[in-house]
Amino acid sequence: MSDDGSGASATLSITADLAGTASAEFEAALAALLDGLGRNGLRFLSGPGGTVSDRDRTVGTVVSWEAGREVRIEWRPAPWNGSLACELRLRSEERSAGCRLRWELVGWERVLAASGNDVAEWVGGALLPACIGRLTPGSLSDWITDTLARRPSGRRSRETYRDPRFHWPNFFLLLDRIGLSADDRLLEVGCGGGAFLGRALESGCRAVGIDHSPEMLAVAAEVNRAALGDGRLSLHLAEADRLPVASGEFTCVVCTGAFGFFPDPSGALREMRRALRAGGRLALFSATAELRGTPAAPEPIASALRWYDADEVVGLCRDAGFVDITAEAPDLEPYARRAGLPDDALPLFRGGRGAYLVLARAAPPALAPGNVPS
Ligand SMILES: C[S@@+](CC[C@H](N)C(=O)[O-])C[C@H]1O[C@@H](n2cnc3c(N)ncnc32)[C@H](O)[C@@H]1O
Repeated sequence: MSDDGSGASATLSITADLAGTASAEFEAALAALLDGLGRNGLRFLSGPGGTVSDRDRTVGTVVSWEAGREVRIEWRPAPWNGSLACELRLRSEERSAGCRLRWELVGWERVLAASGNDVAEWVGGALLPACIGRLTPGSLSDWITDTLARRPSGRRSRETYRDPRFHWPNFFLLLDRIGLSADDRLLEVGCGGGAFLGRALESGCRAVGIDHSPEMLAVAAEVNRAALGDGRLSLHLAEADRLPVASGEFTCVVCTGAFGFFPDPSGALREMRRALRAGGRLALFSATAELRGTPAAPEPIASALRWYDADEVVGLCRDAGFVDITAEAPDLEPYARRAGLPDDALPLFRGGRGAYLVLARAAPPALAPGNVPS
């Protein structure tokens, strides 16, 4: 029963029975809520007395906070009437096996009634279509691809990319081939959680990492705190085809595990070329279609990727102003052993069919028309 005397009441409730402990699943759900609100432009200052803000307006206030068990947020969605509030609740309880999580939105019928709208209209016309819209094949595939690989976010991706165990063979190969020294200025495009940068910086080089995932840059900053602190590394949120760097600033550009996601691959290569000084080296590492559908590139991520063969990438590099271009199909097994990967993972890295490495150098800038010898 609602307290407006009308007798109308409505609760939106989603329940999930999960295998983990009540407190662990609660913390995971709360962290996901925090991330999700953030991605929708809302800022959640969590903890007792915390708030949720939409730009400079407070839309939610934490009215109950039991760590690991329950959070209740009073939600005020109607700025034209400050007394209209509903409540968002997240609760977790132990079950005989695992736990039950419950998300609830309570009391919003009052908010709707005050503006002359009704619950069925809002649920059927606004709320459910928005939820179901997230369940269409395209939307679900995009969400999975984005959160796991194309623009990683969430707890699982933060953990994975902090130390991407199965990417270390690629990193070792790249480091072998580019031979960094303290004189190098390295740019990594699509740097993820910064694990490659961390190892590269051991050469004494200076480096810049670019990624379009804010969460990945936050992980990269944690992983490379010391290098950031002493100014040897900087990290920037940017798209690969609009690099926020000066022309000719770098001696080496690396891009690994990211090229197939770029919407404008030619634009990205032109930007990498621009970032390099003449003679600077490019190393571009990517999986081949041989890995499509394997644990290295599972669906739906595999279908979202653009699969290039090495010849196509060589052509794109030439068009973007690179010279001395070579492509190899490296046998990654020795590098996988060096990375300490388990024996049953080694076949994925064996035989040079699963990946290509394109190496190239930046051509000198074209002579300006006034400089062309007559
Ligand atoms: C599969 S992860 C690989 C991360 C890292 N290079 C590694 O090998 O562990 C791909 C990364 O490329 C980034 N990325 C994808 N498309 C991008 C774009 N257009 N501009 C900038 N970064 C991009 C993603 O955010 C993600 O961090």
